[in-house]
Amino acid sequence: MHTLTVALADRSYPIHVGAGLLSRAELIAEKLPQRRAAIITNSTLAPLYLAPFRAALESHGIDAVSIVLPDGEVYKNWEILNKIFDALLEHRCERKTTLIALGGGVIGDLAGFAAAVYQRGVPFIQVPTTLLAQVDSAVGGKTGINHALGKNMIGAFYQPLAVIADTDTLSTLPDRELAAGVAEVIKYGLIRDAAFFDWLEKNIGRLTAREPEALAHAIECSCRNKAEIVALDERETSVRALLNFGHTFGHAIEAGLGYGTWLHGEAVAAGMVLAAKLSHRMGLIAREDVALVTDVLGRARLPVAAPDLGIDRYLDLMGHDKKVEEGRIRFILLKRIGEAFVSNGVPETELAGVLGMRAAHA
Ligand code: NAD
Ligand code: GLY
Repeated sequence: MHTLTVALADRSYPIHVGAGLLSRAELIAEKLPQRRAAIITNSTLAPLYLAPFRAALESHGIDAVSIVLPDGEVYKNWEILNKIFDALLEHRCERKTTLIALGGGVIGDLAGFAAAVYQRGVPFIQVPTTLLAQVDSAVGGKTGINHALGKNMIGAFYQPLAVIADTDTLSTLPDRELAAGVAEVIKYGLIRDAAFFDWLEKNIGRLTAREPEALAHAIECSCRNKAEIVALDERETSVRALLNFGHTFGHAIEAGLGYGTWLHGEAVAAGMVLAAKLSHRMGLIAREDVALVTDVLGRARLPVAAPDLGIDRYLDLMGHDKKVEEGRIRFILLKRIGEAFVSNGVPETELAGVLGMRAAHA
């Protein structure tokens, strides 16, 4: 097991990464203010992991109720959030009862938001089971739900007490979901870690082949990058915005096609290609760099051409992005591979050019 720390003064917390951690209930027990917990998971994960996980908690004297939600991005909404509150109240969960998210980013975001607001805030632990959640969504305290008009538009910053990433759970993850997680892994290389991108370029096949050592290395590098960024800028007033590289386009793709049609990581992959093309059009990176980004994402079995929603629809959807300031869409661009920055100055002609280019090539 490797442990990293998200350094946030008295709210600092560990990220434990390793095999077999679902049975290491002491990692959870040591964090609980009360021997009661509510496990929030979904109908896919429950038959795979809920019984042994719950048994491990019970062996440490933790009385855990379970709340099993329907599976899917389309359920990351108010209605399902309210079902969590119904269950917490029916089970008489108290202020010191810890909510444990057992699942991917959808469960983590929903459960984290529930924890942020139930009784004005209860303890919360992330037990991520997808690659995407282990490298990104479980770390950093962004929680929330979708709105029909925009992705992740309702939510709260709320940090967990611990993140416990059991890499064994990835063995049951479908290939398409694994690839979606690799998109976020590649993102870290592109925005701030050229050496890691170099490693990814050489080792991407080992990740898609699920080699445990390669996966462990990718998860650790990703979590290290994410932890550093979150420690610098917890509430996204500066550098944390870089984590949204490709996401402005990606969120538009997800919302535009209907949540769940493309996976989040798939939309981000196609969005990163658009963001790389935009960086090239703005005179920042070379055409060869765009080709390299596209090649690595393609070898990770991710889509590199965005769907044709039409330029007007893209502009409308991107106008709802959380990075919009005073009506202007802000973009994360690449100065070079391994260094990104926030740009307020993308002319609409360049944007239309990239989206038009994409439409012409799609
Ligand atoms: P997900 O939570 O929908 O999980 C993907 C699918 O895999 C689901 O069907 C799930 O049931 C299944 N699954 C999960 N673990 C499994 C396992 N071990 N074995 C078999 N099946 C398993 O998707 P995701 O990619 O984990 O997360 C995407 C969500 O995360 C999006 O809503 C996105 O907005 C959000 N997100 C949040 C942040 C953040 O900082 N909070 C960052 C990135 C993404
Ligand atoms: N996934 C973006 C962030 O955590 O800021």
